[in-house]
Amino acid sequence: PDEPLVLGIETSCDETGVGIVRGHTLLADALASSVEQHARFGGVVPEVASRAHLEAIVPTMRRALDEAEVTLADIDAIAVTSGPGLAGALLVGVAAAKGYALAADKPLYGVNHLAAHVAVDTLEHGPLPEPAVAMLVSGGHSSLLLVDDLTNGVTPLGATIDDAAGEAFDKVARLLGLGFPGGPVIDRRAREGDPAAIAFPRGLTAPKDLAAHRFDFSFSGLKTAVARWVEARERDGEPVPVADVSASFQEAVCDVLTAKAIDACRAHGVETLIIGGGVAANSRLRTLAEQKAEKHGIRVRVPRPQLCTDNGAMVAALGSRLVAAGVAPSRLDLPADSSMA
Ligand code: KG4
Ligand code: ZN
Repeated sequence: PDEPLVLGIETSCDETGVGIVRGHTLLADALASSVEQHARFGGVVPEVASRAHLEAIVPTMRRALDEAEVTLADIDAIAVTSGPGLAGALLVGVAAAKGYALAADKPLYGVNHLAAHVAVDTLEHGPLPEPAVAMLVSGGHSSLLLVDDLTNGVTPLGATIDDAAGEAFDKVARLLGLGFPGGPVIDRRAREGDPAAIAFPRGLTAPKDLAAHRFDFSFSGLKTAVARWVEARERDGEPVPVADVSASFQEAVCDVLTAKAIDACRAHGVETLIIGGGVAANSRLRTLAEQKAEKHGIRVRVPRPQLCTDNGAMVAALGSRLVAAGVAPSRLDLPADSSMA
């Protein structure tokens, strides 16, 4: 009971999340999503997301406190995602967190969204073995990070040079007419398809690309290749084998992601790979990562899907680590930093 009670607020994209943790224990994880409001646009519309956060933040806060059966007065610290993310969306969370921190006289911690995606794993699997490599794959980011000491931040090793992995899933789903968000549908349809049916390109894996982009990703060429393949089919008046296209596309993404993640672990002598972000919910990614990791004695930790996507619990989890490590709180003029590394 002496462990700090930390509340976390997340509003960097389209999910309004408020989580509450005590130490490594998750007590509440309240979420409101504006995903349905973005569906007809095929992607998150920043202005729509900001307005939705404004409407959702107070009720989501109430739900989290109710769920944890605590009051704001019981909370020891408030953490909030201060970047990276959509500027207007971040501002809503940061302003709310400041308001609550000031009103209830609580320390405020601005945290990095990517580091929070890593920290959430401690709620499921306990303390993080460090150093570790984290691969974060979502609709907004695709990064490989080195984690020496999570309370000190994370070191980027590489990132996508064009589309994020989740964005590729969403765009390919759209051109296959499968709806938004595309990841879960492609994951499902791929189960009836042959991953070797079509040889789609593996971006930035050729020897000439590896020199400058060993730990970077590129998915826009893959997306174009899928589009061309589907167009050619349609031009010939042939039906599009959605399951095979889904499986072959998914295989190309997961193959590159897991190969580079394992390579990063080996290059840095790291034995733990953490995978987070919405795409970490992908069943093929999990299986392939485990298969490849096992060969090199690397352990893979993937939080349950609910914790992989954006939520408040991840912010609370990182806040809890910062409090435990005795890190100084942020100032009340904490800015939202949309391009934070
Ligand atoms: O982390 P997240 O909820 O929000 C962002 O920060 O973007 O990730 C959402 C992304 C979407 O692009 C969605 O299509 C993808 O994660 N996603 C998946 C799966 N579930 C969600 N991608 C592949 N397979 C899945 N099962
Ligand atoms: Zn995220």
